[in-house]
Amino acid sequence: MSQEEKFKKVISHAKEYGFVFQSSEIYDGLSAVYDYGQNGLELKNNIKSYWWKAMVQLNENIVGLDSSILMHPKVWKASGHVDAFNDPLIDNKDSKKRYRADVLIEDYIAKIESKVQKEILKAKKRFGDKFDKDEFLSTNNRVVQYQDKIKSIHLSFSNALEKDDLLALKKIIDDLEIACPISGSKNWTEIKQFNLMFGTKLGASSDSSMDLYLRPETAQGIFVNFLNVQKTSRLKIPFGIAQIGKAFRNEIVARQFIFRMREFEQMEMQFFIKPGTQKEWYEKWKEKRMKWHLSLGIEKENYRFHDHEKLAHYADAACDIEFNFPFGFKELEGIHSRTDFDLANHEKFSSKKLRYYDTQNNESYIPYVLETSIGVDRMFLAVFSNSLCEEKLEDNSSRIVLKLPPILAPIKVAVLPLIKKDGLPKVARELLDKLKLKYPVSYDEKDAIGRRYRRQDALGTPLCITIDHQSKDDNTFTLRDRDSMTQVRLNEKELIKEIESKLLVKF
Ligand code: GAP
Repeated sequence: MSQEEKFKKVISHAKEYGFVFQSSEIYDGLSAVYDYGQNGLELKNNIKSYWWKAMVQLNENIVGLDSSILMHPKVWKASGHVDAFNDPLIDNKDSKKRYRADVLIEDYIAKIESKVQKEILKAKKRFGDKFDKDEFLSTNNRVVQYQDKIKSIHLSFSNALEKDDLLALKKIIDDLEIACPISGSKNWTEIKQFNLMFGTKLGASSDSSMDLYLRPETAQGIFVNFLNVQKTSRLKIPFGIAQIGKAFRNEIVARQFIFRMREFEQMEMQFFIKPGTQKEWYEKWKEKRMKWHLSLGIEKENYRFHDHEKLAHYADAACDIEFNFPFGFKELEGIHSRTDFDLANHEKFSSKKLRYYDTQNNESYIPYVLETSIGVDRMFLAVFSNSLCEEKLEDNSSRIVLKLPPILAPIKVAVLPLIKKDGLPKVARELLDKLKLKYPVSYDEKDAIGRRYRRQDALGTPLCITIDHQSKDDNTFTLRDRDSMTQVRLNEKELIKEIESKLLVKF
């Protein structure tokens, strides 16, 4: 199955099973804005809770915050977003479609990378156990050429971005002969910068109203509250403030489903540190965040670090954790060493001191900040797309199964009476009532048991409990595992033990 076909399946499965709907669908939808259905909401909440536990609950020196979406307009002047939160845009004159110039180049690089991957796969098949990837990468002529090309594009690309040189960016597109995916033509306009913030107004009358922005990141709410939290919590540096909340960006090239949205959610943590220690904390947080991702049991090969081509206006070091989405490796999370850029600028623009007083050394300073920032929706897409698979079964039939990490699954256990009579629903409901105090569970008595298993497989429910006639006699039940499809007969106590072990978290 091609990547495109796989991605289409992900989108249609998300809709068919109540995970993600297009916003305002009955009015033909609003582009790049999505709603989460009954199952999507649960998965999203579980992702947020998994992050919150790892960041706030398990770290004594990290606390939470819930700041407002609307903030004083000076915040965005101080943060640099008014002047520098831009995307370089380019139009194709024939299709009249607008693109992000940097994304066109990134997509071009990704295509060469996928050619390299294909060559690796072919060689693996050819050489079997004798295949040595490093040797192949350094000796195969075609692959060496591909890699050299990637290196040289990266070099001119990062130079152009670094200098904000739009002419140089355009030259790369021309030199590589990048064509519009719609018209196929190379008839491009010049590149222009476009600010991504959504504007809005506060107040009713036109003369007294104030121009505001919907926040494009949650981070600034943390910076402006830095001293409020520090003083009321009496935390000492190093310490962190974490926040989950909505952010808004007027993305011009909004595509790829919930990967790039105009309204989305971020999980951000700002870690306040002593100036000079940022390199050490940058490495520590890179390691910690990667560990968090891997703790979900998704294969390591799906993640990689990618250093930023161009550092954002606030950073002295930055990288992304990229994930292998159905459309290739793309940014999932950012780790940024933000220096004292934000706090120093807020001090300047607000004329209020935002300093930390170090009682031990009797000195006060503006802390440096290490940020980890991940989009909830992107994490959702990563987990969801990676979990969806179609399996051939022994009897030659197939099943669609969503192999979500159990801790994130919307429903943990489905309780299914084998048939709708002989008192089995009553026994099933008694068990359900006990389980639902502790776990999100569902009850289903419609259709044959096989069809009900398939339904739960498609929703990602890790465990199904079937109640049959024997259950009435000896209070034992059949527990079916989603992934292996194995079934075991257990009593109630053993059942709970199995559920608990499935949901064990290994941060
Ligand atoms: N505070 C830093 C910051 O906002 P960013 O790299 O612009 O950094 C952080 O965004 C994360 O937010 C990204 O890694 C991504 O997961 C998510 N994100 C950014 N823009 C997004 C969009 N338009 N739609 C969905 N998620 C987005």
